[in-house]
Amino acid sequence: MSAYDLVVIGTGPGGYVCAIRAAQLGLKTAVVEKRKTLGGTCLNIGCIPSKALLHASELYEEAGHGFEAMGIKVGKPKLDLAAMMAFKDEGVDGNVKGVEFLMKKNKIDVHVGTGRIAAPGKVEVTGEAGTTTLETKAIVVATGSEVAPLKGVAIDETRIVSSTGALALPKVPKKLLVVGAGVIGLELGSVWRRLGAEVEVVEFLDRIVPGIDLDVARQFQRILQKQGFAFRLSTKVTGIDKSGARLKATVEPAAGGEPVVIDCDVALIAIGRVPYTDGLGLDAVGVALDPRGRVITDAHFATNVPGIYAIGDVIAGPMLAHKAEDEGVAVAEILAGKAGHVNYGVIPGVVYTTPELATVGRTEEDLKAAGIAYNVGKFPFTANGRAKVNRTTDGFVKVLADAKTDRVLGVHILGPDAGNMIAEAALAMEFGASSEDIARTCHAHPTLTEAVKEAALAVEKRALHM
Ligand code: FAD
Ligand code: NAI
Repeated sequence: MSAYDLVVIGTGPGGYVCAIRAAQLGLKTAVVEKRKTLGGTCLNIGCIPSKALLHASELYEEAGHGFEAMGIKVGKPKLDLAAMMAFKDEGVDGNVKGVEFLMKKNKIDVHVGTGRIAAPGKVEVTGEAGTTTLETKAIVVATGSEVAPLKGVAIDETRIVSSTGALALPKVPKKLLVVGAGVIGLELGSVWRRLGAEVEVVEFLDRIVPGIDLDVARQFQRILQKQGFAFRLSTKVTGIDKSGARLKATVEPAAGGEPVVIDCDVALIAIGRVPYTDGLGLDAVGVALDPRGRVITDAHFATNVPGIYAIGDVIAGPMLAHKAEDEGVAVAEILAGKAGHVNYGVIPGVVYTTPELATVGRTEEDLKAAGIAYNVGKFPFTANGRAKVNRTTDGFVKVLADAKTDRVLGVHILGPDAGNMIAEAALAMEFGASSEDIARTCHAHPTLTEAVKEAALAVEKRALHM
């Protein structure tokens, strides 16, 4: 008889949430984690520490530029970077302890060490105390992702850093060069720009934040430029020389051409993340990977080997914590004999900059490519009373609705608190709402969410405040 019903390898948001749901459903569950702390990339070196620094640096900037306009005189704020880092670390620690508590509360065994699948139903755990073998009916691989390397550039986490090093710099660089205008580059670029760094972003494509509705991405770029970001699009970094006191990055047009050298103090490499399966033994047990190294799963998160499942960043789909969590819940429910399911058409994505960029569903580019006729409703925050009084008028809400049925197909919000506001759009889409449903829903005044209602009204060209 198996000692466990389920062993989950990895305790990121995918793994630990999967374990909790499995335990709630009565499965005898264990997790295996090789880090010293639980919570995975998200809690330790991802979502949580980055949001702590984004929060603190936003207030620092606001205290320097925004407070006085509201009649609050605090003098010039002084940065204590070590204290800000301690604030971030405390936040991480609190969250990690929360996961430890949840494991205990749900009677989930925690095995610290590196997990390797010796055979279906057998997970070897190698830790400080040696190697033990866990027997189990099912295994869920939730081992996450790691930083994608940039060819010819070695990350030292001191001067040439990944997000991990950029979350712990000991001093504000005079100039930060960001390679990759994606989520990490723009979030962490924002942190260091607010704290005083000059930030230049080099992006391979001719646009920032690929995958985001282009109209929204263009406006986002203009706003970031107004804040001081410099962008070099359609450009690639071919090497970084670190022999001198300052780094010298060589860049050239993406299509090839004359190289240019950029001096900087720190270079952040943020060109994506890749699935992490090192040392898991997937090869030996015959688990199939796709050409990008992702574990191949079916609609029930099952791999090609019976009894082995996978979720989160290690499989296809957006590399987001909430996507991993929802997959964790779904696979636990499937293993318990229920009908677990994830609606991939309604997974919100948020870039936590100022303003925030939040999106759910399809972009105009997607709809054009699919040949779906649609109507657009847009409403700017300059016409929203609350945004106006708060002086946070950058951005707009954009609703895309099916031209025939009026069903909401996508909502894109560039604006203050967009990350919280997108939940309304996700809920509406989950229920199959039309833009008229949103437009007819009473929204409290004065709130930023009225801009969502107005954008829905604008689909029928009947916005009230524009
Ligand atoms: P992970 O969180 O990567 O966890 C995998 C765990 O498995 C790790 O703890 C690892 O140590 C462990 N592991 C790996 N191999 C083994 C093994 N063989 N044995 C034992 N343990 C093993 N997403 C958002 O939704 N919102 C955000 O704001 C956000 N911010 C981010 C900021 C940064 C800087 C980064 C890097 C990422 C951010 N993400 C964010 C992405 C998010 O962190 C990931 O999508 C999420 O962590 C994926 O969860 P996961 O459970 O699949 O894997
Ligand atoms: P990303 O995929 O968001 O962006 C990478 C960027 O680098 C793209 O714009 C890409 O075109 C560019 N690029 C690729 N190769 C390049 C090269 N050689 N030179 C210049 N540019 C190049 O990846 P990022 O920002 O590293 O984030 C990784 C993952 O982490 C993302 O999938 C994201 O979902 C997740 N994440 C999520 C956050 C959130 O939800 N708020 C925050 C941070 C990360």
